[in-house]
Amino acid sequence: MGKDVIVACDFPSAAATLVFLDKFTGKKPFVKIGMELYYAEGPAIVKELKARGHKIFLDLKLHDIPNTVKKAMAVLSKLDVDITNLHASGTVPMMEAAIEGLTRPDGSRPLLIAVTQLTSTDQETMEKDLLIKEPIADVVLHYAANAKKAGLDGVVCSPLEAQRVHDRCGKDFITVTPGVRFADGDRGDQKRVMTPAEARRIGSDYIVVGRPITAAADPVAAYERCVREFVG
Ligand code: C5P
Repeated sequence: MGKDVIVACDFPSAAATLVFLDKFTGKKPFVKIGMELYYAEGPAIVKELKARGHKIFLDLKLHDIPNTVKKAMAVLSKLDVDITNLHASGTVPMMEAAIEGLTRPDGSRPLLIAVTQLTSTDQETMEKDLLIKEPIADVVLHYAANAKKAGLDGVVCSPLEAQRVHDRCGKDFITVTPGVRFADGDRGDQKRVMTPAEARRIGSDYIVVGRPITAAADPVAAYERCVREFVG
């Protein structure tokens, strides 16, 4: 699995995104388009960034009844993104339906990964708000095993959990890990965090990095630091 840094383009508009990406002269970072940007700009922003040569992780985190998710995934399959995702808590039948919807008539499809527990959730919030009493690491592993069973390619998880996911689901099962912070940086709302270098040591395949790059005084230098620490 090729290791890479995915830059979370959490911007309110295409204009703001392009101003940001234009700073990366000669480089085409793997980018993540999330809900904010996609809901503002729709499929056009995906096509624009694809045409500019970026790989794209479309992070819309679908979660609905299986039939609805299947139909939504069939629409997304036409966008030619590299990775897309859903919530593992939507259950195995929902994930199986998603794969069906995402698979194009020629059998190809983007990689599909499942969100396990958001990295903004910790044990206490999970117990209090969701009434899930199991240890968070067990919940993540259970969701990962369900995703694998449904035929998905990997999961989004905290870097703290990536190694155990690989142990349980195999080294080819992709781990995409947000919640990455520089050792000397702000945590923001992320509770379960790790540095790029630590994420590399424990075997994350991709790290998703937003504010440590997008809010940096020099985003290109921050991106390069991430790549140096994570990819080497
Ligand atoms: O700015 P920051 O580095 O915290 O951004 C992390 C990105 O990863 C955000 O776009 C967020 O939506 C996403 N993400 C996350 N935790 C997950 C799944 C996705 O933080 N479990």
